[in-house]
Amino acid sequence: MANETVTITDNSTGKSIDLPIKSGTHGPRVIDIAKLQSELGMFTFDPGFMSTAACESGITFIDGDKGVLLYRGYPIEQLAEHSDFMETCYLLWYGRLPTADEKQKFDGIISHHTMVHEGLHNFYNGFRRDAHPMAITVGVVGALSAFYHDSLDIWNDRHREISAHRLIAKMPTIAAGAYRFSRGEPFAYPKNKLKYAENFLHMMFSFPTEEYQVNKVAAEALDLIFLLHADHEQNASTATVRLAGSSQANPFACMSAGVGALWGPAHGGANEAVIKMLQHIGDVKHVDKAVERAKDKNDTFRLMGFGHRVYKNYDPRAKIIRKACMDVLKELKVSDPLFDIAMKLEEIALKDPYFIEKKLYPNVDFYSGIILRAIGIPTSMFTVIFVIGRTIGWISQWNEMMTEKNLKIGRPRQLYTGPAIRDYEPVEKRK
Ligand code: ACO
Repeated sequence: MANETVTITDNSTGKSIDLPIKSGTHGPRVIDIAKLQSELGMFTFDPGFMSTAACESGITFIDGDKGVLLYRGYPIEQLAEHSDFMETCYLLWYGRLPTADEKQKFDGIISHHTMVHEGLHNFYNGFRRDAHPMAITVGVVGALSAFYHDSLDIWNDRHREISAHRLIAKMPTIAAGAYRFSRGEPFAYPKNKLKYAENFLHMMFSFPTEEYQVNKVAAEALDLIFLLHADHEQNASTATVRLAGSSQANPFACMSAGVGALWGPAHGGANEAVIKMLQHIGDVKHVDKAVERAKDKNDTFRLMGFGHRVYKNYDPRAKIIRKACMDVLKELKVSDPLFDIAMKLEEIALKDPYFIEKKLYPNVDFYSGIILRAIGIPTSMFTVIFVIGRTIGWISQWNEMMTEKNLKIGRPRQLYTGPAIRDYEPVEKRK
């Protein structure tokens, strides 16, 4: 409805203000509080952004209660079934599905940007042999700013587009390089005839001395994982990318900030944490004890891969990936004791009143870790795989923000609870 408002009254002064209500295409309406400070002299207080929309966006929509996820309006289930990661990248960046010609051209552009500047390889040598691949990825992605000066004008549409193409194309090369370095193995150059996920597997596992055959089941599973992780509206890493971008930093620096934010186990680090947790549980017979520990308020242990800030019914990505997980294990004839533990954990937790009442369901990363393990990806690379998939989401959200009419630097306010104003005392007078 037009001109809807909410009236806020400060009972201590009796002063009132009418705040406009805004509606989007889907989802809850929002109260526009921009004038609150100038009119009432107050800020809002919402740690963790529990009720705060930080921006306007036309890219991704989530309904956490109904388990809905849309990329540019298309349900994730339809994209997972009929599309592929490259087409999804096109959709997220350009806002619409490509024609057959556009799709072919886009695939070609991305393939032709997959090599990194030779000088970038030197960066890897500066890391310790045992560096975590995420540590290397944060550094090397940031270092791209030093190599691609020709596209760093953030106000130029074409520069932003080239940077997006480069980031999508080079991320698997950078990620595979992090793995090869940690193994003391030669870097494998990308091959343009391979599809995106196939190319990544080739760069991860091929040797100059032998022919490498890409496993189609593994490549398809990986492509699906990239597609399911491609965007997720204003999550912690995307919000970080936007905040960094709001200061007009270059896109590579912003992406590096996003990689850092993704790393934590409460976010993208969860897929790695799931496998470590399953290894720690060790046996199906210890699952009950793990569930009890997760419910114990005095124990910091949580079931990794369970729960989500937004999905309080089910994670639609988890539903899709659960099926893919079963298919991959069957097709590759993988028998993994960790998978038995995972299935037992899923069964017990889904029946347990604690998890039911708190609406804690397995999320996408509960199953993605099991697939990645089945196709031979080492655990330390799991979050890096998430980086590859999420790059398109980060860069599309950054681009959307950069094309806003009134871009403002993001500057949260605070509720100060430190010492009241006091006078400095010379050292000799202090007790
Ligand atoms: N195991 C046990 N208890 C849990 C779990 C869990 N995995 N997740 C939440 N809870 C409990 C909390 O202890 C809390 O209980 P309380 O109300 O009695 O205090 C309640 O459920 C709500 O939890 P919050 O942490 O307040 O929920 P929030 O929305 O802030 O956190 C999060 C969501 C971070 C994902 C959380 O569920 C979690 O830590 N999960 C495990 C890590 C994980 O899988 N992260 C991946 C997220 S998906 C992604 O990034 C792709």
